Amino acid sequence: MEKQWWQNRTAYQIYPKSFLDTNGDGIGDLPGIIEKLDYLKDLGIGILWISPVYVSPCADQGYDIADYYGIDPKFGTMEDMDRLLAEAKKRDIAVLMDLVVNHCSDEHEWFQKALKDPEGEYGQYFYFAKKKDGKLPCNWRSYFGGSVWENVEGTDWYYLHMFHKKQPDLNWENPKLREEIYKMMNWWLDKGIAGFRVDAIMNIKKPLPFQDYPADREDGLCNVGGILGSQEGLRDFLNEMHEKTTKPHHAFSVGEVFGLDDSDISRFIGDDAYFTSIFDFRQNVAGQTMLGWYDWKAPTPDEYKECCFTSQKVSEGVGFFSNIIENHDEPRGVSHYLPEYAQNEKGKKLLGMMYFMLKGLPFIYQGQELGMENCAFPSIEAIDDVSSRDEYQRCLKVGLNEKEALKVVSHYSRDNGRTPFQWNDEKNGGFTTGTPWLMVNPQYKEINAASQIGREGSIYEFYKSMIALRRDDRYEDTIVYGVTEPVLEDQKDIMAYFRRGEKQDILVIGNFRDEAAEVEIPELKGKTCQVLLNNGGTCMAVDGKVKLEALQGVVFEVK
Ligand code: GLC
Ligand code: CA
Repeated sequence: MEKQWWQNRTAYQIYPKSFLDTNGDGIGDLPGIIEKLDYLKDLGIGILWISPVYVSPCADQGYDIADYYGIDPKFGTMEDMDRLLAEAKKRDIAVLMDLVVNHCSDEHEWFQKALKDPEGEYGQYFYFAKKKDGKLPCNWRSYFGGSVWENVEGTDWYYLHMFHKKQPDLNWENPKLREEIYKMMNWWLDKGIAGFRVDAIMNIKKPLPFQDYPADREDGLCNVGGILGSQEGLRDFLNEMHEKTTKPHHAFSVGEVFGLDDSDISRFIGDDAYFTSIFDFRQNVAGQTMLGWYDWKAPTPDEYKECCFTSQKVSEGVGFFSNIIENHDEPRGVSHYLPEYAQNEKGKKLLGMMYFMLKGLPFIYQGQELGMENCAFPSIEAIDDVSSRDEYQRCLKVGLNEKEALKVVSHYSRDNGRTPFQWNDEKNGGFTTGTPWLMVNPQYKEINAASQIGREGSIYEFYKSMIALRRDDRYEDTIVYGVTEPVLEDQKDIMAYFRRGEKQDILVIGNFRDEAAEVEIPELKGKTCQVLLNNGGTCMAVDGKVKLEALQGVVFEVK
């Protein structure tokens, strides 16, 4: 694999609505991002993924786009966008836009025209159908609950939406639609963005003709997520998109790819694959079932490490996964993966170290670098997210009481990642002078950027040193390109791996137990272990034995 400009960088995801509000309307905006570019630069960020800021009625927080060529006034203007691109460039930060092309908003001009004439030109941009013998074309359940088919009021037409009913699916079978998408992508690439994060891309190919699948719940429907993935024909779309947009622009792309068979990875990442990288969701989906959030379980540290190691193995020599512990659709990583006793500064740094030192491109989600946690939502009304509201109803339906339902939803709610960024301990955590669109996590008094920047031992400073280590000339080759080799795999609650490079070996070792641990790694006998990073406490690696305090994580250079 040829070396690429992006590989030694660290990426950062911004959820604009919740990052920084500069005009007091309670909604984060583009000027807010511009204001904080130096914050990101100081942290060491080299790639920025910005969640959607296009014109949108926000039924799904901007993932329902009404105009791909316009910035929504609540986020700013196209001039702000241009300024953001220019200012980012000055700081050598590459900007990725979110590409949401499985669906658009029902308020998009195409859909408005299609509604008027479902059998006309724009009707072909979507999926319209009528009932046959009183039956809808298929029994799929949308990601946000209910049938994927929505009636067009006053007619006998139905249209397909895999997500919210305000997100009609685009018909990728139609070459005209595909050309419109490619034109739009090229327009943005010509503007100077570095590339895209590609939303929900496994959904663009539907198994046709529509048909029922075995129901997985008592509603007689079948989860739409379970039937996608290796659709024949998906590859043709992805290949064409790459050939006509990202490839000629030498652009970067990172796909939101679920349900991929490991044997297909080389088509998705690596030299001349559809994408530059794809997110590794193996650990995020661990413990999930088709039944709903009430039935899900968070992975244990050992399950977590197993997921990471499997992903390292299947991507080795193929390409770079993008590694995350959270994003705007997930609970906060520290609240999800860490046992309760580990939900403190030390444990948070430990988890950060374990994922960050893996091979791949690390993404940090806004606030992760401060150790932001899930929010204790006081009631379901405090939660805005469409999927959380649906799952809450689901909990009640299967017999949980309101308190239990709130507990489930509070753990998995997508709004955990969407509460405003905690800049300081002042009003609204410094996010806005107005009323924030979503409640601020009350923890902002203790967990905020101002109290961590420059404080020795803070989570922020720890992240900063990890990012710096990744770009340190002495170690970069090993950390970025070295092969990952797990050790001590059967040691409960110990996660350890070597990164084998041409210049040196690096050992990453962490103790997830709430007590000290001593382990033996015979290979270390007679070698010296120099500490490159340590999340706190003393650590010893002598004569092949490594002693770690509870929740300690260390990166050693082994010589
Ligand atoms: C992706 C986005 C999510 C959105 C969905 C529909 O999964 O990350 O936020 O709801 O696609 O666009
Ligand atoms: Ca604002």
